[in-house]
Amino acid sequence: MEYRKLGASGMFVPALTLGTATFYPPEMNDRTGTTDAAQSRRIIDVCLDHGLTMFDSATSYGRGHSELFLGEAIKGRRDKVIISTKAGMPSGEGPMRIGLSRQNLTTAIETSLTRLHTDYIDVFQLHCFDSLTPVEETLSTLDDFVRQGKIRYVGVSNFAGWQLMKSLAVAERHNLPRYVIQQVYYSLIGRDFELDLMPLGVDQGVSAAIWSPLGWGRLTGKLRRGQPVPEGSRLLKTQADAPPIDPERLFKVIDCLERVAAQVGKSIPQVALNWLLQRPTVATVIIGARNEKQLLDNLGAVGWSLSREQVAMLDAASTVYPLYPQWHQRRYTLDRNPSPVPTDVRDWFPQAGQDTY
Ligand SMILES: NC(=O)c1ccc[n+]([C@@H]2O[C@H](COP(=O)([O-])OP(=O)(O)OC[C@H]3O[C@@H](n4cnc5c(N)ncnc54)[C@H](OP(=O)(O)O)[C@@H]3O)[C@@H](O)[C@H]2O)c1
Repeated sequence: MEYRKLGASGMFVPALTLGTATFYPPEMNDRTGTTDAAQSRRIIDVCLDHGLTMFDSATSYGRGHSELFLGEAIKGRRDKVIISTKAGMPSGEGPMRIGLSRQNLTTAIETSLTRLHTDYIDVFQLHCFDSLTPVEETLSTLDDFVRQGKIRYVGVSNFAGWQLMKSLAVAERHNLPRYVIQQVYYSLIGRDFELDLMPLGVDQGVSAAIWSPLGWGRLTGKLRRGQPVPEGSRLLKTQADAPPIDPERLFKVIDCLERVAAQVGKSIPQVALNWLLQRPTVATVIIGARNEKQLLDNLGAVGWSLSREQVAMLDAASTVYPLYPQWHQRRYTLDRNPSPVPTDVRDWFPQAGQDTY
C-alpha cells in the first residue's frame, strides 16, 4: 500500500482508508446497508492483510456502534492501525450532544476513546462547522486533548473555505493545533471541492481525505440509464441524504468510466477511485464497502495509474462550469499573480466559449 504525507505534518497515511459508516447491528434501522460485528471484523482483517491500516469512524455512525465494532476488531493490534474519527454531528438527543463546544467535544472524545478501547486517536476531525461556538473555544479544547496525548492530529470535515481559513488563522495567532486534514466530498460527479477548498489545501498544507468517492454508491456500474435504482442498494434507501447530482452529467461520467475501464481492464469503481488518487492534495480516499467482494475490488484501485489521456477523458466528461470568483480569477488574475494551485488544476476549468451551453 502506498503511504502519503498528511498535509504540513510528519504523519503518513495509506492511500486508501476504510469507511465504517455502515458498521452497526442489522436490528437497527437499516438505512445504509448494515455490516454487523462479525462482518466488520472480517472486513478489517482483510484490510490489514492488504496493508490498508486506516479506519474512519464518527461518534454519530451507527449511534456509536461503528466505533464499538472497530474497537472490538482492533483489540490487541492497536499499534497496527490508524484511527480516524469525528464529532460534532448529532450523537444523541438534545443540544448538549451536537456541535463543537468544549462541553460536547469533551464528552464525545472521551466516549470515543472508551468505545475504541484506546487511549489515543490518531486523527480527530470536526464533522461539520458550528456557527454558534467560537473557533477559539473549539481549538483550545482540541489543544487540551493534544497536550494530554489523547489526540495526535486534528482536522475538519465539511467546512467552507472561509471557515477553515479562519480556524487556521486563529490557531496560528494563539499557538493552537493546526488542522492538517480536511475530510471532503469529492468524486467524478461532485467536483466542487476543486473550486476553493483544494486551492486552500495546496496553499495551507491541508491534505484531503475523500468521503463517498463513488458518489454515494453511484459510480459502481450498477446504475443504468432509464433503469430503477437497484433493489437493496444503499443508494435506494438513502437517496434523500445523498449528494445532489445532475442525472445527465452522471450518465455522461458513467459512459466515460465504462470506456476507460474497458481500456485498462479494471472495474468502474477502481477507475473512479484511481482518478481521485491522482488529484492534488488527496492523501487518502475513504472507501465504503458493504462486503468483502466490494472491498477486494476497491483495494484494486491502487498500485497502477490511469494514463494522462485517460485522466483527460474523465476530466472532460465530468467538468463543472466554474463559479464566481473562480472564473474571473482564472481569466484575469492567475497569470499575473501565480497561484499555488498547480497549473493542471487551473486547466480543469474550461476556457470561455469552450464549454457547451
Ligand atoms: N465526513 C462526512 O461527512 C462523511 C459523509 C459520508 C461518508 N463519510 C465517510 O466515507 C466513507 C465512504 O462513504 P460511502 O460509503 O458513501 O462511499 P461510496 O464509495 O461513495 O459508496 C459506497 C457504497 O457503494 C457500493 N460499492 C462500494 N464499492 C463497490 C464495488 N466495488 N462494487 C459495487 N458496489 C460498490 C456499496 O453500496 P451498495 O452495495 O449498497 O450499492 C457501498 O456501500 C463512509 O464510511 C464514512 O467513513 C464521511
